[in-house]
Amino acid sequence: MTPHIRCVDVKKDYPAGDTPVHALRGVNLEIADSGFYAVMGRSGSGKSTLLHILAAMDPPSSGEVTVSGQRVDQLTERQATQFRRTSIGIIFQAFNLIPTMTALENTLLPGLLAGDSTGMLRTRALELLDRLGLADRMTHRPQALSGGEQQRVAIARALLYKPPVVFADEPTGNLDSASSALVWEVLRDLAHEQEVTVLMVTHEPEAASYCKRVFVMADGLVKGVLEAEESGEGGFDAGTLATRTQHLLGQTE
Ligand SMILES: Nc1ncnc2c1ncn2[C@@H]1O[C@H](COP(=O)(O)OP(=O)(O)O)[C@@H](O)[C@H]1O
Ligand SMILES: [Mg+2]
Repeated sequence: MTPHIRCVDVKKDYPAGDTPVHALRGVNLEIADSGFYAVMGRSGSGKSTLLHILAAMDPPSSGEVTVSGQRVDQLTERQATQFRRTSIGIIFQAFNLIPTMTALENTLLPGLLAGDSTGMLRTRALELLDRLGLADRMTHRPQALSGGEQQRVAIARALLYKPPVVFADEPTGNLDSASSALVWEVLRDLAHEQEVTVLMVTHEPEAASYCKRVFVMADGLVKGVLEAEESGEGGFDAGTLATRTQHLLGQTE
């Protein structure tokens, strides 16, 4: 089976005067099934760089990247745009909703941009917003929504075209703890229900504890992989995850 996400020896250098920044120094990673996954590491470890490469927003300096069965490390601008539109969804820390549009219009935005305004797409948007607990918020503009509600609209938007893979970069970085927990729960549950591979990057063990597998990053490398115990909904105890991460990094640093 083609893996949903695979990185082979992925490197990324940013030019910076005489000494370039080695943001990624040979990342290897493989995800073969749907579900909720995390890349966890401290600020500056290379998480966003990796996510931008996976989402074809920026090419790697070298290495192979496969997402949803497609090589994405050497796409032209046009191919990258097409890939982002049809094969993935992306959720950002800052929600990135259009302030003048309602929750429903924001959810439908990828369709509007593609000139696709079929009734089917609208039905899908309404179903997603309903599933995300936003049935009575459809006509609200972002300003009239809480941060947690705005992020759930962004999640609906990311899932509109049923992409096989969704990326999230610190999706709860701007949220309080109650709203954060709700976002992690819906990402975990929707990954399962919709058979989507959701890969979230985060610096928080509490966020990663909702995932079934955690790739621990440090210094531009995946230093190790932690698997949740098989039980119930999967996931980790947050305290145990933090301890296991420290242990892993302590062994390799
Ligand atoms: N556009 C850029 N130009 C130069 N250096 C960058 C750029 N983006 C990130 N970096 C550097 O690459 C490293 C990894 O950054 P990043 O991927 O944003 O880490 P994280 O998301 O884990 O906080 C950091 O040292 C950062 O300063
Ligand atoms: Mg980051």
